[in-house]
Amino acid sequence: MLHSALLIWQAIVIAIICSTGLTAYEKRLTYPPIMAIICKAAIANGKGGFSVQDIVVNEPKEDEVLVKIKAAGLCHTDHDSLSWGKQLIIGHEGAGIVVSVGKNISSVLPGDKVILNWAMHCGKCFQCLEGNLHLCEVASPVAAGGNGYTPGHAGLDGTTLNGDPILRSFNIGTIAGYTLVKESAVVKNTSETMSFPAASIISCGVMTGYGSVVNAARLKAGSSAVVLGTGGVGLNVMQGAKIAGAGMIIAIDINPTRLEMAVKFGATHTVLATKDDIGLLKAAEEVKKLTGGRGADYAFECTAIPELGAAPLAMVRNAGTAIQVSGIEQEITIDMRLFEWDKIYINPLYGKCRPQIDFPDIVQHYISGHLLLEEMITRTYSINELDKAFDDMLKGRNAKGVIVFD
Ligand SMILES: NC(=O)c1ccc[n+]([C@@H]2O[C@H](COP(=O)([O-])OP(=O)(O)OC[C@H]3O[C@@H](n4cnc5c(N)ncnc54)[C@H](O)[C@@H]3O)[C@@H](O)[C@H]2O)c1
Ligand SMILES: [Zn+2]
Ligand SMILES: [Zn+2]
Repeated sequence: MLHSALLIWQAIVIAIICSTGLTAYEKRLTYPPIMAIICKAAIANGKGGFSVQDIVVNEPKEDEVLVKIKAAGLCHTDHDSLSWGKQLIIGHEGAGIVVSVGKNISSVLPGDKVILNWAMHCGKCFQCLEGNLHLCEVASPVAAGGNGYTPGHAGLDGTTLNGDPILRSFNIGTIAGYTLVKESAVVKNTSETMSFPAASIISCGVMTGYGSVVNAARLKAGSSAVVLGTGGVGLNVMQGAKIAGAGMIIAIDINPTRLEMAVKFGATHTVLATKDDIGLLKAAEEVKKLTGGRGADYAFECTAIPELGAAPLAMVRNAGTAIQVSGIEQEITIDMRLFEWDKIYINPLYGKCRPQIDFPDIVQHYISGHLLLEEMITRTYSINELDKAFDDMLKGRNAKGVIVFD
C-alpha cells in the first residue's frame, strides 16, 4: 500500500519535474515532505551491458544520508557487476557532498565532503564485535548473504528507475548523480585540498591495496614484498608496503606500461612476466634470485587470474605469507608442495577495512605526501564516456579511471 502510494507520488513528482521545462539533468524539487531529484545513473543490465538513464532519488529516511556524487572511481569489479544477472546502478567507489540527512544521523551534516564505503556494518553482530566490520553478518553486501542486498542498503523505494525500485551495486551505486546510503557508508573527508576524484578511489582500490598490507599482512618494516599484477589494486599494495617500510618491493606484470607505473608507486624491482608462464613459476625464480635464493617475506596476488591463485605461494620463503587480494573464487588445482614449509595463505576482503579508522589514516598519509592519490588518476570521464572508461581499464591504460559529475 505504502509502496504503491510512493510510486504514485513519484509519478506525480516526475510529471511536475517534466512540466517545469528545466533542461538540466539534476532538477531538484522540494515539495515537503518529499524531495525528489532526477539524475543520470549507469545501469547494468545483468547480461554484460549497461545504459545511462534517468533515475529518481528521494529524500533520506531517518537512518539515511543523501550524497551528491562528485566522482566515482572505476574498479575491475564494476565490469564484473555488468554480468551479475540483475539490473543495478553500477559503482562502488565514490566521493561527494552530503545534501541532506535523516533525523537519526549524527556523524555527518549537509555540506560535509564524504568518502563512500561499500562495506556497511551494524556494529552489533558477532563479526562487528570481533572487530571485523568488513565482515558484518547483518549489513555487508558481500558477507551477509542476501545476494548483495542487505539491511546495509538504503530503502529500496528511495531510488527508482521508470517508477520501479532499483538496486545499487554494493548497496551504494556510485556511478549516479546522487546516492542514498546508510550512515556506515559515509566517512567525512577532512582534507582541504584533496580532489574529489582522488577521494573517490580511496573507497575500494586504495583501501583494498593499502589495507591488505597494513591490516591483513601486517607487513614488518625492512621486509621484502612481491606484488603480482600492478593494476589499480596492486599499485596500492605497493603504496601500503612502502608506508609500512618494506625494504624491497618487487612488481610483476605482463604489461610493461604497468611496470613503469609500478616504479612510480613504490616498486624497487620489476619482473616482466609472460602469459605462458603458468603459475608464474619462472617469475618466481627471478624473485628467488632477487631475495638471496630464499623467496620473499610476503607476496600479494592482485591479478584475479584464477590460475594464479597459488602463484604467491611460489614467491614466498619458508614461513612466508601469501596474500590473495583479488578475491579469486574459481576452483583450481594446487601443487601442495608450494605450501612447503610453514607458509601462511590469507584472502582478506577489502583490506579488512575499518572505514572510520582507515580512511582518515589514508587521508593523513596523503596529506603528509606518503601516499599518492592525484597521481594515480590517469584520466577522468563523464558518465556518457563510461564505455571508453571500461575499455581503457580493460586494456590496462589507466592506473585509475574516474567518472566525474558536475
Ligand atoms: N577482494 C577484494 O576486496 C577486492 C577489492 C577490490 C578489487 N578486487 C579485485 O582485484 C582484482 C584487481 O583489480 P584491479 O582494479 O587492480 O584490476 P586491473 O585490471 O587494474 O589489474 C590487474 C593487473 O593484473 C595484470 N595481469 C594480468 N594477467 C597477469 C599475469 N598472468 N601475470 C601478471 N600480471 C597479470 C594486468 O596486466 C593488470 O595490471 C579485480 O579482479 C578486482 O575485482 C578485489
Ligand atoms: Zn555487524
Ligand atoms: Zn572494487
